Amino acid sequence: MSASFKAVKISDRVYWVGAVDWAIRDFHGYSTDRGTTYNAYLIMADKITLVDTVKAPFRDEFLARVSSLVDPATISYIISNHAEMDHSGCLAETIEAVRPEKVFASSMGVQALAEHFRIDQEITAVKDGESLSLGDRQLTFTETRMVHWPDSMFSYLSDDNVLFSQDGFGMHLASAERFADEIPDDVLEFEGSRYFANILLPFAPRIEKLLEKVSDLGITPEVIAPDHGPVWRDDLAKILEYYSRWSAQKRGKKAIIVYETMWGSTDKMARAIAEGVVAGGAEVKLMPLKAYHRSDVAGELLNAGALIVGSPTLNNNIYPSVVDVMTYLKGLKPANKIGAVFGSYGWSGEATLHLKKMLEGMGIELVGDILKVKFVPGDDTLEKCYSLGEEVAARLLKEKD
Ligand code: FEO
Repeated sequence: MSASFKAVKISDRVYWVGAVDWAIRDFHGYSTDRGTTYNAYLIMADKITLVDTVKAPFRDEFLARVSSLVDPATISYIISNHAEMDHSGCLAETIEAVRPEKVFASSMGVQALAEHFRIDQEITAVKDGESLSLGDRQLTFTETRMVHWPDSMFSYLSDDNVLFSQDGFGMHLASAERFADEIPDDVLEFEGSRYFANILLPFAPRIEKLLEKVSDLGITPEVIAPDHGPVWRDDLAKILEYYSRWSAQKRGKKAIIVYETMWGSTDKMARAIAEGVVAGGAEVKLMPLKAYHRSDVAGELLNAGALIVGSPTLNNNIYPSVVDVMTYLKGLKPANKIGAVFGSYGWSGEATLHLKKMLEGMGIELVGDILKVKFVPGDDTLEKCYSLGEEVAARLLKEKD
């Protein structure tokens, strides 16, 4: 075990004992351009308690950080706030090594862990609102189903006022810094929103309710300790305001134009639409799929109001990279967007019709008719593209602030 990995104190009794993954670039389909962290925490109460573990390949780093503080055999309790394997990957081995008095998870967590691992120690299910005495400290559990899995829960350490929030309030960001106040705001907002868009967006309505529930509980966290990215110990209002804004999914005044091109015709149309959006007074971002990943598109769409999608027809169908992105976006269930469809074709031109159906199936309200052109757009078609852009901008600007 490396002596170079140390625990990091995050409050009077709580230490970070996680691992930093500088190399990961794909997290189940989400492009993690800045890596990530798997955070685990040790509560140094009378009953020493471990909250979550890390992804399996990072076991040595995690155990070294624990051992820099205590003999792992002195851990009394282990809490599993979330059963996904980036947090539970070392759980079975840790239980075996530590032989804690008890292991706790939500009722769904007990089931999910049993479906993932062979753990020979009984895992005790805790109820929503239940408290656990750690001797001189107390933990209270709050079910947070579907944030991000059915088993997910928050744990709150009173006295220290630390909220262990597993995926909630997290981000995929590897850094040497452990605290959000050591990282520039623009990086926090960008990576936090990207994480929300790619992981939590399908559950945005639940998150709105969860924020109300946490507020109703009357707890006043001084530290938010998520399972990914930096710990929030200062200006918690910032991350809470981000979550309130992102979960509300208010329609932004920006259009994103997501498209693929084969011989440049759909690209010409995209650029003409973009010029029209700008002329109409709204913001626009062109996202050619040769340059952008599906998770870039999801991140941009979170704060946009319009999704304009373009595809050439290839073998009677939508171009594959566009299908990839649209399938991904459909699963994320973005709400409150308007949209439009365009593209070029050579013979039959089915792509735009398929795309129209996809957008309608996502509940996206279409502006204007499908705009499609055979082979190469001339000035007349490009003028129609420009007008479509203006029309989208007008719709976006009509929305009340
Ligand atoms: Fe970080 Fe849903 O696991």
